[in-house]
Amino acid sequence: MEESNNKIEVFAPATVANLSCGFDVLGLCLDSVGDKMIISKKNKKGISISKIKGFDLPLNPLENAASVAAMALLKNIKIDYGFDIQIFKKIKPGSGIGSSAASSAGAVVGINKLLGNPFTKTELIDFAREGERIACGSPIADNVTPAILGGFTLVKSTNPLQVISLPSISELHVVILHPQIEVKTADARAVLPKKILLKDAVTQWANVGSLVSSLYTKDYDLFASSLQDVVVEPYRSKLIPFFKETKKITLQNGALGYGISGSGPSTFTICKGMENATLIKEELHKFFMKTKIPFKIYISKINRKGIKTKMI
Ligand code: HSE
Repeated sequence: MEESNNKIEVFAPATVANLSCGFDVLGLCLDSVGDKMIISKKNKKGISISKIKGFDLPLNPLENAASVAAMALLKNIKIDYGFDIQIFKKIKPGSGIGSSAASSAGAVVGINKLLGNPFTKTELIDFAREGERIACGSPIADNVTPAILGGFTLVKSTNPLQVISLPSISELHVVILHPQIEVKTADARAVLPKKILLKDAVTQWANVGSLVSSLYTKDYDLFASSLQDVVVEPYRSKLIPFFKETKKITLQNGALGYGISGSGPSTFTICKGMENATLIKEELHKFFMKTKIPFKIYISKINRKGIKTKMI
């Protein structure tokens, strides 16, 4: 083993899945919120987790999203050593900004680097989905994809996995409002209808298409009018405290769009420029203080790089 390639520090960012109209297919990567992980080569084969700080999560490698994703990767390569993972979690599990996805994606990207990059990004996303399977009950790809590719992403298909990096618009900022209640992804999926009306499907896929087009043409108006969700939001918004009120506040204050981040309870506001993001953050803060529900608010730019790593 080469001394310099034995240990890596990973910044595993939070992500916003769905982006209103793109349930299970669209996502974006955040910049200012994320976990730190330290991954080290070890002589013993397999994956261990020696430390988790920040939140109470399983150290058992069979139960933690990071190690499950890492084990999926190891199944595809023959090596006579293993890896230990330390996780310093900042993203609260069940917050709707891709906590398990950050762990899963961070583990596989870090290990791939330590191995000398034998796997493609698409293969890494596929391994990371196994972490999502253990954490959310299904191998969802719309959080791990932006975490690994950065920027805006589209999951074209999951079998076989086909993912697309989309361009971004430079001045976009995201405000994340996180009411400190837990909404489990499995529960938020259980409230969704099995069938939807054809007219709603037409609206939804037109919006996905126009949202993608707006990113290529840098068209803020088209971007804003495409951030609508007529399929999922009507059901899930009931699980989120003061959703209607906070949506009204952000849109009245110039937001381009407001919706549920992933399966919630966090919501996201997308706006143009830091000044507008700061105003919206202040207005949401003022409103939420009155609700007596504990909450956090973050502003983030779009993270175009995704996971960041550093050999240590
Ligand atoms: N697309 C998934 C959902 C994301 O909305 O259920 C889960 O974080």
